[in-house]
Amino acid sequence: MIASKPVNVLFVCLGNICRSPTAQGVFEQMVSTAGLSAAIKVESCGTGSWHVGAPPDSRSARAALKRGYDLSYLRARQVLAEDFEVFQYVLAMDQLNLAELEALSPADYSGQLGLFLEYGSSEVEDVPDPYYGEGDGFERVLDLVEEASEQLLKTIQRVHQL
Ligand code: 4NP
Repeated sequence: MIASKPVNVLFVCLGNICRSPTAQGVFEQMVSTAGLSAAIKVESCGTGSWHVGAPPDSRSARAALKRGYDLSYLRARQVLAEDFEVFQYVLAMDQLNLAELEALSPADYSGQLGLFLEYGSSEVEDVPDPYYGEGDGFERVLDLVEEASEQLLKTIQRVHQL
């Protein structure tokens, strides 16, 4: 079989320590379980630079680990203009992140730039930022991310015939 180029997926939030690393960890695990790790590459980043080099927020990491997702290998980075040359899917966690990405993206970007939750079936458009919140914000992030990830994987498999 001739190996074709992988499909590259980038999840983007504000700090790259809560929502987008959670999405990366969840989606990567689903891709791996589907036997598609060579065909679909996954990364995450933030629009902001405050946490560059930091591991995921301990509350995100703990909540993810309880569901079997290990986020400990991830480190935050900031989005780059060059990311639009690499990633066919650039998926924002909320509308503020999306507005930043739209400003950064080249006019001729031909990939999919949009909201991650457009792939899910919930009415919610934004993954709520759990960073300053109390309570079950991190569980809510995982619920939304798991559901949208399943749908995203199905879409990519269909569109790219994987
Ligand atoms: P994230 O959450 O965008 O889901 O990683 C945040 C993390 C840090 C900050 C804001 C949101 N912050 O302001 O430092």
